Amino acid sequence: MPSIIVVGSANMDIVTRVSHYPKPGETIFGQQTSFYSGGKGANQSIAAKRSGAEVHFVGALGNDFFGNELYRILREEAIDLDGMLKKAVNTGLALITVNKAGENNIILSPGANNELLPSDLDEIDWEAYEAVLLQNEIPWETNACVLDQAKDKGIKVVFNPAPAVQLSPETLKQIDLLILNEHEATSLTSIPIRHIDEAKAAAKEIILQGAKEVILTLGLQGSLYMNDKMEVVECPAYPIETVDTTGAGDTFIGSFVVRYLLKQDILSCLKYASAAAALAVSINGAQKAMPSAAEVAAFLAEKGELVT
Ligand code: RIB
Repeated sequence: MPSIIVVGSANMDIVTRVSHYPKPGETIFGQQTSFYSGGKGANQSIAAKRSGAEVHFVGALGNDFFGNELYRILREEAIDLDGMLKKAVNTGLALITVNKAGENNIILSPGANNELLPSDLDEIDWEAYEAVLLQNEIPWETNACVLDQAKDKGIKVVFNPAPAVQLSPETLKQIDLLILNEHEATSLTSIPIRHIDEAKAAAKEIILQGAKEVILTLGLQGSLYMNDKMEVVECPAYPIETVDTTGAGDTFIGSFVVRYLLKQDILSCLKYASAAAALAVSINGAQKAMPSAAEVAAFLAEKGELVT
């Protein structure tokens, strides 16, 4: 069973459905507001756990009601929370609007996530893990410390640069696998991505900047893998009725990494992750919508695909 450590964010997602997005100065009514546990670090931890990994999540919560709730939910998933921090600020919040097409807009109020500092990582036994998963919702100096530790101890680094961030060639060299969506890839490369050829051009540019392996998630257009030997693997998305895309990328990442650590071939890993993400968009909420390994296997079996 793969053993993964995730150092990242946990948020309470406050999600309101809207008929359309307001213009500047406009006030609109939202319909149906819900509270869901989220945050890219916590989401990817749960996706990896439900795909069959042992997961240790290191993050920071506020000493408040939302913090207690998020802690309880992660514990119920049997995620290792040893070293989880409580800070004297509010728990991270994500203010999310979801439109009729299931697409979302997110405003983050990082709260305790911004207080997760390099000194909070002193007790971690890095060698106990095969891989570390990182995103961009905690201070950069903390991510930089994890990158240094991981390289020093020889564990694999999977980085999801979300929200988008510029990465130097030196940083890219510290990352084994970069997984990002089309918007994040455009921010790294300045290449607008509307179709698969532009996605390939962006992936190639990221490899030329110093990445070893990169995956672009492209929503309904599927996903694309490229490595520094310029090998390319494409995987279509599984069409499904979209209710809420929040956390779909996190589902893809957490589940992909587990299959990848199990040394499955890249196309099988992409198919598994795409199936998990498809199931996730068919239900409201981020973590709440993430499927178990058995659910993904059943979905793939319906499509005539076997999970080995
Ligand atoms: O990727 C989705 C997540 O982004 C949400 O759960 C929200 O908390 C933000 O971190």
